[in-house]
Amino acid sequence: MIFETDRLYLREMEQTDFSSLCEILQDEEVMYAYEHAFTNDEVQEWLNRQIKRYEDYGFGLWAVILKDTNEMIGQCGLTMQDCDGNQVLEIGYLLKKKYWHNGYAIESAIGCKNYAFAVLGTDEVYSIIRDNNIASQNVAKRNGMHVSSQFVKHYYNINMLHYIYSIKNSD
Ligand SMILES: CC(C)(COP(=O)(O)OP(=O)(O)OC[C@H]1O[C@@H](n2cnc3c(N)ncnc32)[C@H](O)[C@@H]1OP(=O)(O)O)[C@@H](O)C(=O)NCCC(=O)NCCS
Repeated sequence: MIFETDRLYLREMEQTDFSSLCEILQDEEVMYAYEHAFTNDEVQEWLNRQIKRYEDYGFGLWAVILKDTNEMIGQCGLTMQDCDGNQVLEIGYLLKKKYWHNGYAIESAIGCKNYAFAVLGTDEVYSIIRDNNIASQNVAKRNGMHVSSQFVKHYYNINMLHYIYSIKNSD
């Protein structure tokens, strides 16, 4: 286990999580900010990328597990991301649709922020969010973050405006 909150715990993902990951990454509604639902191969690449991140950095996107049922309800974690030319530590989150609107994303995102400050000793964490992704921006705001800048990311042949949300340990 990486850390726990009142209702959740976060742990590294493994191959047996593939079907849970498909439920998230192959749902077009969950993936609207990415413009497409993933194929099985893309889900496997995503899982491999997280496992490589655990090896390289000691962190990545983790499985979010509901303590009551032991079900994987989503992913949340910390990754190094290119942010308009700089490498920054980002908090990211994606939940299975049936678990939206319960406060699970904010509960796990706050846990990741605390982990980044207390365990990794970082000074600042970020969430880089597409302009049309209001639910994700609300999580960042509830996590105490503010927009510090914006930039256009070219992904999937589309120019996507992104807001850079961040919070410092000293804030
Ligand atoms: C981003 C995402 C994880 C946010 O999910 P969410 O359900 O809106 O966020 P939370 O789990 O924090 O839940 C917050 C909601 O639960 C409500 N809530 C209910 N019980 C709560 C509790 N105990 N504590 C806090 N909030 C609670 C809040 O009022 C809020 O309501 P709202 O949706 O009407 O604003 C989800 O929309 C998602 O998976 N999107 C697709 C993936 C994605 O785009 N990820 C981000 C890429 S940058």
